[in-house]
Amino acid sequence: MRKKIIAANWKMHMTQTEAETFVSTFLREIGDPDEIEIVIVPPFTSIPKVSELLTQTQNVKVGAQNMHWERSGAFTGEVSPAMLRELFVRYVVLGHSERRALFGETDEMINRKVHAAYEAVLRPILCIGETLAQRERGEVEKVLSTQLRGSLAKVESKELLETVIAYEPVWAIGTGKTATAAQAQEAHAFVRQILREMSDEATAEKVRIQYGGSVKPDNARELLSQPDIDGALVGGASLDPRSFAQIVQAGVSKDS
Ligand code: PGA
Repeated sequence: MRKKIIAANWKMHMTQTEAETFVSTFLREIGDPDEIEIVIVPPFTSIPKVSELLTQTQNVKVGAQNMHWERSGAFTGEVSPAMLRELFVRYVVLGHSERRALFGETDEMINRKVHAAYEAVLRPILCIGETLAQRERGEVEKVLSTQLRGSLAKVESKELLETVIAYEPVWAIGTGKTATAAQAQEAHAFVRQILREMSDEATAEKVRIQYGGSVKPDNARELLSQPDIDGALVGGASLDPRSFAQIVQAGVSKDS
């Protein structure tokens, strides 16, 4: 059984003050449920505050949205893996489509970051996903396979177990257009097949694959009840503590 993992990707939202209000409301709604893992992924500047507020929780953890692969150096504007570890960060989102499209990140760069994450004992949440044009050209499998194999080059099975994959079709991010549960399940099953080819059956069965792209309280349950959907990476709907709590509840319920 894979423990579901639901993450709140706040993107460039939430000052420290706003984050504080969010976390206290969210914890009041949800508590610290054993059945599920929750990751709050604030912008860098709000990480210390969120970490401090989550010191007592077992299942609500802190993530980061990005990092550099080097340990230190002349990289103005960048943040290193060790800097995140010092703030009790456990997960790091890598290769988000916004990083790929707006900041020129390639699979090769993401692969360096993935290895740097393992070295710093951070768990990557690796994002992959096709654009609408790629889907219309029938290239979904080709794109997912290339991104997975490129971003996870030279990753060992034991490292793969520490990794979460987030399937986020680019056309569904922030658009209100969710993949249907069937479309998402089909892509997730394909991702697991590639993981099997890259490692082995037992490893591929244990890796958690999140769906991301316009996840909302009213579509979360159906998505999360699919056999290969092990969680969600939530953008817009994670900015409201009550709607994010409802999405988490959808993942906790018995039938999902
Ligand atoms: P969205 O974003 O939920 O606002 O579509 C998801 C993401 O980009 O991770």
